[in-house]
Amino acid sequence: MRIDILTLFPEMFQGPFAASILKRAADRGLLDIRLHNIRDWAHDKHRVVDDSPYGGGAGMVMKPEPVVAAIEAVRSLDDAEARVVLLSPGGRLFNQALAAELSIIPRLILVAGHYEGFDERIRNYVDDELSIGDYVLSGGELPAMVVADAVARLIPGVLGCGESHLEESHSPSAEGLLEYPHYTRPPEFRGLKVPDILLSGNHAAIARWRRQESIRRTLTRRPELLSGAELSKTDQKTIEEIRSEQPPDPG
Ligand SMILES: C[S@@+](CC[C@H](N)C(=O)[O-])C[C@H]1O[C@@H](n2cnc3c(N)ncnc32)[C@H](O)[C@@H]1O
Repeated sequence: MRIDILTLFPEMFQGPFAASILKRAADRGLLDIRLHNIRDWAHDKHRVVDDSPYGGGAGMVMKPEPVVAAIEAVRSLDDAEARVVLLSPGGRLFNQALAAELSIIPRLILVAGHYEGFDERIRNYVDDELSIGDYVLSGGELPAMVVADAVARLIPGVLGCGESHLEESHSPSAEGLLEYPHYTRPPEFRGLKVPDILLSGNHAAIARWRRQESIRRTLTRRPELLSGAELSKTDQKTIEEIRSEQPPDPG
């Protein structure tokens, strides 16, 4: 998969893409990330990419000419059909399902904004607009890294055989539940013990325990996810049991 990132600060990407899974994916030819400086498409003397807003108000707005020229030029660099995504706090909320959807397309172009955001007309030249959460960052670089990472690790072959996204929180096979707790050696750390069941070697019992703990974690941390979860009768019983364990509400 090819991911092109349009940004005013390409240097911000050097660290995250030069290590770990993303680097390995690039080294193995599964991922091709290219960075482009939007300023390269600003053709006036001072290579200006922003201007003050019509109607007044604080901050600067990213000008349409360089951003649209950058999108068009980068789109034409490769024959593969590209999906152009604008990063913006006002976009659709990015989630694991969207990451999975993007991981099967051949090309993604991510456009990172700055200042107060984009001139509205730029939105006519993109296919989608994504937000990574309900908060405002200073620029679209971190959101672009987040989207690139979440998408890249779902590309077939990117995760090694010891790694898997299949049972992870928010994955379709997790059926709407958060992931169960993990433990590794030592069996006891500062008095905190690994649950006996995980040392039992009884795979069926371990699978049951993990399911119960997934439900417990979802119920206590993100109860709203349970309404979309696929729950069996046994799961429903587990929920009732966990609810009955909880102390009564002091209010
Ligand atoms: C300071 S923000 C602009 C915020 C804008 N004035 C607003 O209220 O929506 C500058 C840029 O950072 C990026 N950005 C900030 N927060 C983001 C988020 N939660 N998700 C995606 N992109 C974000 C966008 O590219 C945005 O154009």
